[in-house]
Amino acid sequence: MSQSLHPMLNIAVKAARAAGAVINRASLDIEKVQVESKGVNDFVTEVDKHAEAIIVETLLAAYPGHGILAEESGREMGAKDSEFLWIIDPLDGTTNFIHGFPVYAVSIALAWRGVVQQAVVYDPNRNDLFYASRGRGAYLNDRRLRVSKRLRLADSLIGTGFPFRKGDNFKRYMKMFEEISQQCAGLRRPGAASLDLCYVAAGYYDGFFETGLSPWDIAAASLIITEAGGLIGNFSGEADFLYQREVVAGNPKVYGQLVNILTPYTRVIKDDGSTPVEGDAAAPDATDAFVAAATEAPAAAAEPKPRKALKVSGPRTPRTRSGA
Ligand code: IPD
Ligand code: CA
Ligand code: CA
Repeated sequence: MSQSLHPMLNIAVKAARAAGAVINRASLDIEKVQVESKGVNDFVTEVDKHAEAIIVETLLAAYPGHGILAEESGREMGAKDSEFLWIIDPLDGTTNFIHGFPVYAVSIALAWRGVVQQAVVYDPNRNDLFYASRGRGAYLNDRRLRVSKRLRLADSLIGTGFPFRKGDNFKRYMKMFEEISQQCAGLRRPGAASLDLCYVAAGYYDGFFETGLSPWDIAAASLIITEAGGLIGNFSGEADFLYQREVVAGNPKVYGQLVNILTPYTRVIKDDGSTPVEGDAAAPDATDAFVAAATEAPAAAAEPKPRKALKVSGPRTPRTRSGA
């Protein structure tokens, strides 16, 4: 790395590389890795947990007063009242990892007052380090990243992720899939959302969309995308995406075209309380409980609540997103 890193980014890189070493070591003897099921098609291994422990230990050793939101341990570790929150996915792409499919990554973001400031996504297979500090550009190893310049969705390569958990709304996803696959040059689903989003930043993809993602899948890469000149938001093109389980990203031109297609599928409720899509495609799914749990006080979280109302009327022209 040629440029000097922000000290907090430096610690994040150190933590990501330490987790990457754990993952690479375990990948040499994948048969030995113990796998547990968190739900249907949802797995966690001892490697996820070990990698997370090393990341949290590294971050808290440097910043003991900071908060932690990590996929496997939630808000258990770190301070509960800090304005700084590290958002961690210790192994994004666990299903790939279990099968020896070499597409997975470590994702670490630091948010301050809810806005992502520092970001690292580390691919230990390729030794590829994607990183960004707010206002200082996005990089892959030593190379400055820029989103693609492609103008038309018809010429674009688009990344996505398929729903696969019990309770996911498959019908809704299939409608989006049908529309977008017929209007772009190709759709890809490698299976690690943090890397998918970094591939938008690098210009490999021109756009990306997925439902059902969690903050730890997208927080770090969201800053990497905006620092590379791209846009990221929810399906109606608004900046409220981190906890909303619907995300679309792209270069500014392609982002606008994807938002035009995806807006009718948004689950973010309009000000007038109307349902965005009629019929099955908008039916409530497991996401409701997730959003309620993530956005409400713990006591209220048990009962799913409608999502925060957002105004989705008006022009759908892309605007620069502030990350998270
Ligand atoms: C998963 C990956 C995958 C996405 C899933 C995520 P995990 O993360 O990012 O691409 O489609 O929704 O849960 O569980 O392997 O950390
Ligand atoms: Ca993940
Ligand atoms: Ca994970």
